[in-house]
Amino acid sequence: LAHGVQRRLLTRAAARGDLIARLSVDPQVVADPFATYEQLRARGPLSDNGLVHGTVDHAVCNEVLRSDAFNTGGGHAELPVPLRRLLHRLLDPAALGPIDPPSMLVVDPPVHTHYRKQVARAFTARKVGRLADRVEVVAERLLDELAGTDEFDLVERYASLLPVAVIADLLGVSEADHGLLLELGNRAAVTLDPALTWRQYRTADTALRDMHRWFADHVASLRREPGDDLISQLATDTGPDALDEVALHQVGLLVLGAGFETTVNLIGNAVVLLDAHPDQLAWLLADDERWPGAVEEVLRHQSPVQVTLRAANTDVEVAGHTLRSGSGVLLFLGGANRDPAVFTDPAAFDVARPNAGEHLAFSAGVHFCLGASLARLETAVALRVLYRRHPQLRLAGAPARRRTRVLRGFEQLPVTTRAHS
Ligand code: HEM
Repeated sequence: LAHGVQRRLLTRAAARGDLIARLSVDPQVVADPFATYEQLRARGPLSDNGLVHGTVDHAVCNEVLRSDAFNTGGGHAELPVPLRRLLHRLLDPAALGPIDPPSMLVVDPPVHTHYRKQVARAFTARKVGRLADRVEVVAERLLDELAGTDEFDLVERYASLLPVAVIADLLGVSEADHGLLLELGNRAAVTLDPALTWRQYRTADTALRDMHRWFADHVASLRREPGDDLISQLATDTGPDALDEVALHQVGLLVLGAGFETTVNLIGNAVVLLDAHPDQLAWLLADDERWPGAVEEVLRHQSPVQVTLRAANTDVEVAGHTLRSGSGVLLFLGGANRDPAVFTDPAAFDVARPNAGEHLAFSAGVHFCLGASLARLETAVALRVLYRRHPQLRLAGAPARRRTRVLRGFEQLPVTTRAHS
């Protein structure tokens, strides 16, 4: 119901040329949002279309993400406030979205603080740093499996398989389940988007319910035979801070899904950008230490998570606008990462850009990506190993973009490793 109402309102507004609505529902704009981000920027640091506010301003995004005056809106902040209040009165808020139970991404402090504490210790930069060798072994193995094949789909055979293998290892998931998880995750990914059609909603909802069922079995089997992984630790914890069953699903499934549904996009986006900038690829190939900087620039230039949402807790002033309590704000991270106030010549891709790391691709504030260190490590290793083995790697056809609004990446990426004339 909420998606249907949203769809109708946003589609009507998009037809009138409203920029925020077009960024949400116009397929052409979703495929290439950058010109529309600039139109929005020209209107000032914060815009309001009567349904929701929107911003591509780096300073405003940063301020809102770090502010106590905003929460996640339970994931439904894109509806006008009175309508949202009415729906919340009529329906159980949990029933407003396909995520059941809702994920940690849309849980607010103090509950969120408790959840986050339970998992954060597994993802510190130091712990993740120790995984470097393991990530490299997996990357090499995936490329070994491609020996003798000089044309393949990079997403299918490499960029999707590496992150799933790494996160599955950390969460005690056996290799036999990788394929199923990739399939379910891919179908569920659209759930992050607003204004879904009934068919999209059903597909995502079914995939999420299947994932919850699979996760319940996974937890039960780890309780019987615990391993040295995060889910075994959480599921067998009997201390005062132990997560209950619902929380275990909210946290565990998000870590799992976020662990493989995002990094695949970052690796794919990097390969497409480097294909278009062979001079920069050659510069990177000359020194392995340059890869981490390149990963930051890909995160900035083609942010795998383009947008997130917050709602005001209270009446609050932002960039000269007074936002009423409950008002939603779309934070277009992909646009903020091209803010000329922070990045010189922001549309240019430059792997040597000194301040690329000031991007907001991993968000900021209390929901700052828990897996940022892991994603950075995986991508730097994935690219270094790939191009060390295949310095001639080039696109072998047109890549097919994912049709999701929040996630930006490719679902098919044909490449060739043959030297081209
Ligand atoms: C949260 C981006 C990889 C786990 C987030 C958020 C962003 C993001 C933007 C916050 C959204 C918001 O503020 O509303 C990315 C990108 C990735 C990536 C661009 C890869 C390129 C990963 C990986 C993991 C992960 C590998 C695995 C552990 C999480 C979790 C949260 C999160 C658990 C929720 C944190 C919380 O609510 O406190 N990510 N992520 N992410 N990410 Fe990532």
